[in-house]
Amino acid sequence: MAADRDEKTAEGTVRRIYLDNNATTPVDPRVFKAMRPFLEEDFGNASSLHVYGQAARKAVEDARERVAALIGASSEEIYFTSGGTESDNWALRGVTAASEKETLHLITSTIEHPAVLRTSEQLEREGYRVSFVSVDRDGKVSLDELSTAVNEQTVLISVMLANHEVGTIQPLGEIVKIGREHGIAVHTDAVQAVGKIPVDVGKLEVDLLSISSHKIHGPKGVGALYIRKGTEIAPLITGGGQERTMRAGTENVPGIVGFGEACRLAREELGEREGRVALLRDRLPAGSRERIPHVRFNGHQTDRLPGTLSVSFEHVEGEAIVLSLDNEGIAVSSGSACASGSSEPSPVLLAMGLGSELAQGSIRFSLGKDNLEEEVDRVLDVLPRIVERLRAMSPRAR
Ligand SMILES: Cc1ncc(COP(=O)(O)O)c(C=O)c1O
Repeated sequence: MAADRDEKTAEGTVRRIYLDNNATTPVDPRVFKAMRPFLEEDFGNASSLHVYGQAARKAVEDARERVAALIGASSEEIYFTSGGTESDNWALRGVTAASEKETLHLITSTIEHPAVLRTSEQLEREGYRVSFVSVDRDGKVSLDELSTAVNEQTVLISVMLANHEVGTIQPLGEIVKIGREHGIAVHTDAVQAVGKIPVDVGKLEVDLLSISSHKIHGPKGVGALYIRKGTEIAPLITGGGQERTMRAGTENVPGIVGFGEACRLAREELGEREGRVALLRDRLPAGSRERIPHVRFNGHQTDRLPGTLSVSFEHVEGEAIVLSLDNEGIAVSSGSACASGSSEPSPVLLAMGLGSELAQGSIRFSLGKDNLEEEVDRVLDVLPRIVERLRAMSPRAR
């Protein structure tokens, strides 16, 4: 596996190290193996009556059970989508569309993924009211502000389970309690949490939960929305009768099969992955604190994802660090991938109260199940030199 990451360049052999697993993950070879027959001989349309269709239908339903098992749901509560973004859109748009209240109000947080934030803003333009609840320095949602925001018109609370940039895990139990007291549906974007920490909808008691396949070593372009039985929600895509008329369109059978296999593997290996990845992640602050002055580690120190580490460096641009690390064969990100290409400071870090200079001087490491100790040690070897060199050139450092 590791040998695959060596790349011959004009300068010699570069050992590529991938530490951007919150952006996406490589498809696990076992997942690819499971998908392959559904691209070749078992190519049928899952709605067809013949043998080809039956094979595809069985594979889709087996995958549904695997996804359900990973989050403690029953398979009828799993609806396949094209990914996390669609699941988030459906939760917000579907619940509001199904409500009979007159002026609709939603509650979300300021550090959601753009799939929720931009959709909420669009709903605002369409006449809905939205409260964006703030977070503290660690990225935890203010429960006081959230309860105060609730009113007669509130139809949905949507707060992510774990943040994509800093990894902070939200107090979903408390949030669901507030929702229940007022009869308000609760959605959580669990795209970064599922497969990395235990997620059980029976314990969380949320009504809707978004998952994405490509964050857990499944293929891109497939995901699911968990919809608790009895939740009022309108379809997002109408057409043929797929997904029990709730999400039309011929099923992405190979994608769904891969997603199902990725969920099965995540469930089987969760405990081992979680512990190993957290140990690797913890080497980074331990090793860089003494070697790099003026750094800050963002996010909650205990309630957080095992593989995520957001670091802010004073007097240096995060993007410059990302590019320098890339030159050394190390892939990390500055802020979320969706915001890359823009040099705006991370909205998540700003919402957590970081100044814009410090937010702009931030990078995100996100480790996954395939990372190795020696890869982290290589980062600890090159990062201090990079930061020192960039600071020496930075007008901000003077
Ligand atoms: C928290 C969160 N929600 C939603 C998404 C979007 O998922 P997808 O890429 O499957 O559309 C992402 C992807 O970065 C994410 O991190």
